[in-house]
Amino acid sequence: MAQITHGVRSVLSSAVVYDLTQRILGAERSRRILVRDYIRPEQSDLVFDIGCGTAEMLRHLPEHVRYIGFDLSQDYIDAARRRFGDRGSFECIDVADYQDTAHDGGADIALAIGLLHHLDDDRAAALMRTAWNKLRPGGRLITIDGTLVPDQSGMARTIILKDRGQNIREPGQYTSLATQVFGSVKTTVRHDMLYVPYTHCILECTR
Ligand SMILES: C[S@@+](CC[C@H](N)C(=O)[O-])C[C@H]1O[C@@H](n2cnc3c(N)ncnc32)[C@H](O)[C@@H]1O
Repeated sequence: MAQITHGVRSVLSSAVVYDLTQRILGAERSRRILVRDYIRPEQSDLVFDIGCGTAEMLRHLPEHVRYIGFDLSQDYIDAARRRFGDRGSFECIDVADYQDTAHDGGADIALAIGLLHHLDDDRAAALMRTAWNKLRPGGRLITIDGTLVPDQSGMARTIILKDRGQNIREPGQYTSLATQVFGSVKTTVRHDMLYVPYTHCILECTR
């Protein structure tokens, strides 16, 4: 697994500590911006959330979306089931092992929120193929991850390099992971998503 799970960062394996830390850093604000400007969901969309964590994204999606989430962490998936019950389905699976056995039609939206920087290139390629296979023609994959760019503040760079994920990439590197599979990829770099200095790379990939 390409993420650090020992030392001080091991406490983030607890769903409660993880959610609290995210909230303090501004994850709620970041989710609101993502939904408004990039995800743009419709009421009855089928949303496929890869690396869904505790599925907190569901709070920001329209009430009637159909939601499928999976994540590597059993603790996060248990928390998602307790919190959201029958609002979605939640499974503990590594993205490299995901097999689509459902006959629920193509997804309108696939999400990989804060996931690519946890994955090495092979797993990232598996993520891209999985999302492409699950999406209907015209459906979109939205990803967001910390990134390294020349004009960011030293503080942002320091915080990003402390992440549990061990595969922080430059915007061009994230983009080329996606263009191996998706014909249309729009890349945006933003410095204003969290309450702390941080730089994100957002990909909008259309099947
Ligand atoms: C930064 S968290 C983001 C969680 C969630 N998407 C959110 O926005 O709150 C990254 C998530 O990716 C999951 N993850 C890491 N490697 C994974 C893998 N190989 N397969 C599936 N999930 C993975 C972690 O367990 C963690 O929940």
